[in-house]
Amino acid sequence: MIGTACGKVILLGEHAVVYGVPAIAVGIDRGARAEAARTDAVSCTLALGDAVRASPADGSDTGRAFGAVLAACGVDFGVEVKAETTLPPGAGLGCSAALGVAIVRALDGLVGRAGAPPDEVAERAMAWERVFHGNPSGVDTTTAARGGCLRFERGEAGASVRAVRLARPLVLAVGHTGVASSTRTMVEGLAHLRERRPDLVAKSFEAIRSLVDNAAVALETGDHAGLGHLLDLGQMVLSGLMLSTAEIETLCRVAREAGALGAKLTGAGGGGCVLALVAGDAGPVLGAWERAGFRGFATTVGGATETP
Ligand code: PMV
Repeated sequence: MIGTACGKVILLGEHAVVYGVPAIAVGIDRGARAEAARTDAVSCTLALGDAVRASPADGSDTGRAFGAVLAACGVDFGVEVKAETTLPPGAGLGCSAALGVAIVRALDGLVGRAGAPPDEVAERAMAWERVFHGNPSGVDTTTAARGGCLRFERGEAGASVRAVRLARPLVLAVGHTGVASSTRTMVEGLAHLRERRPDLVAKSFEAIRSLVDNAAVALETGDHAGLGHLLDLGQMVLSGLMLSTAEIETLCRVAREAGALGAKLTGAGGGGCVLALVAGDAGPVLGAWERAGFRGFATTVGGATETP
């Protein structure tokens, strides 16, 4: 049985989304794939690419996450799962969520639940995400399962998710700082800042909420110049929350100088990736990043592709 899932970039709302502020995320055309097969053995094994092998009792994070996802999927027989991803880990592109969703889909196929609704798949994949991220908002697993452009809001009684209809395709350049970062560490860092400076963080979250609201309108009306400006403002707010780094600031500046409409970090920050919105051709931004010593790729989001 085979399961697939896409990676994601968060346009606006990362971190604040953990505390109930809405975020806008888009699925990208890179992701993860998993293959699951029943085995005669009672044991369960997971191979992540060529490098990592794990099983529920081996004490590793990956092993524990695998055990949690087997339980969430109700798998009580021997399985062998092989999973791979084209997403760099620790880059803010939803690598672990894409793997979790792909593995859930492959396991779902084995227990007669192939084609389960994306939100149910995403919920089961949260068992995997919680092991790595502690307190994930769910935006990564939801976007990995649904794709398209989504407005996601965490709530007491579950998340509210709606597809954002893009008036025009969105062309993004995604650049990597070359520095991996831990989402768990970054989320915990912000939680500490929130304890020490509750007013600063509350004001920043309100600013992010209004950027997200305005960005939804810009996406739906095709106002990409306006959206770019909102991304730049988002980067300023995230820097004020100590989530940026020198490499992130350089990537953003180089992208803007090369004609990007706006640029910001995406995901947890502290390293990872930057996204830049471009007006059509991502080539100049990717070229400028390369000359500055950074690697990147382009991705186009075509429109709302919410799966029912
Ligand atoms: O860096 P990533 O891809 O794990 O994205 C994390 C997004 C956060 O908002 C920082 C955390 C979350 O759980 O939503």
